[in-house]
Amino acid sequence: MNTLEAIFNRRSVRKFTQEAIGNEALHTILRAGMSGPSAINSRPWRFLVVKDPATLQKMADGNGSTAEPLRQAVLGILVLGDLERAIERAPEFWVIDASIACQNMLLAATELGIGSVWLGTWPVKEKVEAQRRLFSLPETVVPHSILAFGYPEASQKQLPSKGGYEEDRVRFEKW
Ligand SMILES: Cc1cc2nc3c(=O)[nH]c(=O)nc-3n(C[C@H](O)[C@H](O)[C@H](O)COP(=O)(O)O)c2cc1C
Repeated sequence: MNTLEAIFNRRSVRKFTQEAIGNEALHTILRAGMSGPSAINSRPWRFLVVKDPATLQKMADGNGSTAEPLRQAVLGILVLGDLERAIERAPEFWVIDASIACQNMLLAATELGIGSVWLGTWPVKEKVEAQRRLFSLPETVVPHSILAFGYPEASQKQLPSKGGYEEDRVRFEKW
């Protein structure tokens, strides 16, 4: 699968088999996360990898009803921002950097045949605080998103493309 195929074929997968994800695939996904661009190369991300089903349930509890896919997932990665690495002039760039890491991980999973869905956490205060409490995070480490992974259930393997190009979202040269 080339880059464009991964970008165009990726869909959110919300139903997973219980087949485990091997350490090599996990390492590739994490490396993809750490390979994105970041403001002044600050790399302000941290990753909390969770395979324990009981912990995945607790993460789902804290992230509200839209985090249901995590209950069936075999792997969850809590993507975090490390404020100690955020750049002084514009600390909020950490949010963008963490978002790019998320998308890179979803694309890597797509290439590996692993299904995934992004579960938003930041900037919803209750969700951020729930994950912070669950893992007793230091103040300088901020929950950003949870990514749920697993091999797709049969029904999720051929999700239709959503159509892609929207002509009216693009303007050329002038607004
Ligand atoms: C910031 C963000 C937060 C999201 N949060 C959730 C979520 O809580 N639950 C969920 O099932 N999907 C969530 N999604 C996935 C979107 O619903 C999904 O990407 C969108 O519907 C487009 O579908 P696609 O990913 O198949 O292209 C989130 C995606 C993003 C980028």
